[in-house]
Amino acid sequence: MTFYAGTLTSELARAEQGYRDRTPQSATAQARAARVMPGGNTRSSLWAAPYPLSITSGSGCRITDADGHEYVDFLGEFTAGIFGHTCPALERALTEAHRGGFGLSSHTPYEADLAEELAARFPSIDLLRFANSGTEANLMALTAARLVTGRDRIVVFAGGYHGGVLTFGAGNAPVNIPFEFAVLPYNDLQAVAQEFAAAGDRIAAVLVEPMQGAGGCVVGTPAFLQGLRTLCDDSGALLIFDEVQTARMAPGGAQERLGITPDMTTLGKIFGGGLAFGAFGGKAEVMARFDPSHPEAIPHAGTFNNNRLTMAAGLEAVRHHLTPGALEALFERGEVFREALNARFSAQGGAFHVTGMGSIMNIHAVAEDPAVRRDRLRLLHFHMMERGYYFAARGLIALSFPLGEAERADFLDTLDTVLAAGRASSEF
Ligand SMILES: Cc1ncc(COP(=O)(O)O)c(C=O)c1O
Repeated sequence: MTFYAGTLTSELARAEQGYRDRTPQSATAQARAARVMPGGNTRSSLWAAPYPLSITSGSGCRITDADGHEYVDFLGEFTAGIFGHTCPALERALTEAHRGGFGLSSHTPYEADLAEELAARFPSIDLLRFANSGTEANLMALTAARLVTGRDRIVVFAGGYHGGVLTFGAGNAPVNIPFEFAVLPYNDLQAVAQEFAAAGDRIAAVLVEPMQGAGGCVVGTPAFLQGLRTLCDDSGALLIFDEVQTARMAPGGAQERLGITPDMTTLGKIFGGGLAFGAFGGKAEVMARFDPSHPEAIPHAGTFNNNRLTMAAGLEAVRHHLTPGALEALFERGEVFREALNARFSAQGGAFHVTGMGSIMNIHAVAEDPAVRRDRLRLLHFHMMERGYYFAARGLIALSFPLGEAERADFLDTLDTVLAAGRASSEF
């Protein structure tokens, strides 16, 4: 075991040095950015030691770094990049909207068009509003729940991620908004039932991802999610499904696959057609509180809430790309790919496994020692990048539409080669 860990450590150091040798321009870009941004970073999730790649361009499912290396992109902008990196139809939609003028200081037809499309897809959404990010959508959904129920307590789950100030990877993060959160174990209905028994009359909402995305693609069990529905029904709390990632699982999101209708749904990422986007919606009686003609309306302002370019791109995306057929096919491709990955991993000794749903999944290293898990995943990540495959350092993979059969098959073969070499030298 000592020998094993030693091999892993020295191989990791060698792989990291190889990364540095191959990517000097990314190092230079990082050093430059660090002079004006803390750590050269403006988006924490992109950070990976020793420094992340500086990507200069992308096309279809491929990206190119500052040193000219091409990678097949299996990350797909942390699930937002479902369309790939170039999409002529989105480009046309954006150009057309831009030509017609943007920043028009009022409503434009695009926003009602997009709202109609989304409301038609999600049975949980009678009325909705747009925002600028998934984070903001969740903030507004929670705010609505608190104001509508007159209660303060919010149930969320360990490992959950609902945005930069709603992050529960390690309990209630210091950066989070100062709401009263009960952070409970995910997929543990008993714990939630106990919480409701103790404080049900103070709980405004349960905010849950049908699959915890940033938490490592941990899938919610149908019994757990259905149980949350029942507990909320019995206590008058609102059930909020955060479908910022899982909306791609079906035209009506993961909730359609599960057959569970939450009171409110939050959306983001793909429905902006590649631009910054968020939306929250739900039952008419809840959402009607935002009607500004109402004397006691809940205000929700935002310069870019109805940004014409975002609305136009989102509309094009929903009408012509995120079609039921395309989403179903992507879901199936993801299921097959995840199974194939797991088959390769177990055939090669079981040092890794993959969890997920449809086209979103996460590779995990298997080992008792967390340090070994971390180093194994880092090593696999370096090895795959060296061979031209890009996914998140934390193991996240999100398939995009242009990522084809050939790319997926090559990824699997390359993985086999890497795993076999790693086993031979006791790295994995
Ligand atoms: C499930 C979930 N909710 C909310 C968010 C926050 O969305 P945004 O990054 O657009 O603020 C994310 C982002 O990754 C997410 O995965």
